[in-house]
Amino acid sequence: MNPTILAIESSCDETSAAIIKKGKVLNNIIATQSVHENYGGVVPELASRAHQQNIVPVVDEALKSAGVSKNELDAIAFTQGPGLLGALLVASSFAKSLAQGLNIPLIGINHMQAHILAHFIEEPRPKFPFLCLTVSGGHTQIVLVKDYLDMEVIGETQDDAVGEAFDKSAKLMDLPYPGGPLIDKYAQDGNPEAFAFPDSEMQGLNFSFSGIKTAFLYFLRDRKKKDDQFIEKNINDICASLQFSLIRMLMQKLKRASEELGIKEIAIAGGVSANRGLRDELTRLSTTKGWNIYIPDFQYCTDNAGMIAMAAHFKYLKGDFEDLRAVPQPRMKF
Ligand code: KG4
Ligand code: ZN
Repeated sequence: MNPTILAIESSCDETSAAIIKKGKVLNNIIATQSVHENYGGVVPELASRAHQQNIVPVVDEALKSAGVSKNELDAIAFTQGPGLLGALLVASSFAKSLAQGLNIPLIGINHMQAHILAHFIEEPRPKFPFLCLTVSGGHTQIVLVKDYLDMEVIGETQDDAVGEAFDKSAKLMDLPYPGGPLIDKYAQDGNPEAFAFPDSEMQGLNFSFSGIKTAFLYFLRDRKKKDDQFIEKNINDICASLQFSLIRMLMQKLKRASEELGIKEIAIAGGVSANRGLRDELTRLSTTKGWNIYIPDFQYCTDNAGMIAMAAHFKYLKGDFEDLRAVPQPRMKF
């Protein structure tokens, strides 16, 4: 079985479509919504409207650039959850209508599972079982991946996601949304030991990022009292130190999971896996810990339909389809 599938993603603020044919992702068209930049976060209502505007052109471009006609499609896949309800509704309604019109199967995809399956788009591919640190704007999880569609969350954040910690800290420094990539950029030229922030004391393999966020708020407030130019003068060192602390918290738990389970196949996925500090630290650990590490290509780190297409391929092979009553699941679990 070598299906040709159209996959659509609209769970947050990227409208994306991709075509997968014979297990190979042919393209990955992404329309990013810049409308949220001035609001310090994604505004759900504006996200839904932008998806409505973008979805037809994005799907059209995916079909055209792959040289695939609608009649050649074997299935339509869409992100079923987790995500923003109004945003998810756009791709799910579109996918259902198209699947019904073409009389082909419909495939519902779990967005977090797809982030992990992005590792199967290109070589090298991780070997089962592997551990995946999935870090995005909505999630921070350590996942034990036993097979393509057999995954278990063994640790996760009890409050904020690490991407949220990046973005909210950036907002405190008046940086536009999403602030994560900007903190990464400023951190490149900063000293990670210039300022110290406390780690959280979470049990087991779980994470907490609300403490560091509050500590960062008070830190900025105190320093600004003494010097109202403090942020401008120290932006590189502040970003490098904050990023260093966040990465240390992530790595502590990842190292622990690897030791407890005796697994040295280690992957990262999700938007925050684009972070250069995180990628460098993982590369360093691959030498000191003897890990085989898997870091996705930049275009497959943040939200994209290429990863939805890859997940859809595996679900198609299993015959795992949705019926036309399928609804979005904003809090979808594995
Ligand atoms: O996976 P994703 O695109 O969307 C969600 O499913 O949430 O992740 C978006 C998150 C945002 O919080 C963004 O700031 C963060 O990923 N991010 C980064 C970087 N690139 C994206 N955080 C730190 N450094 C980056 N280079
Ligand atoms: Zn995501």
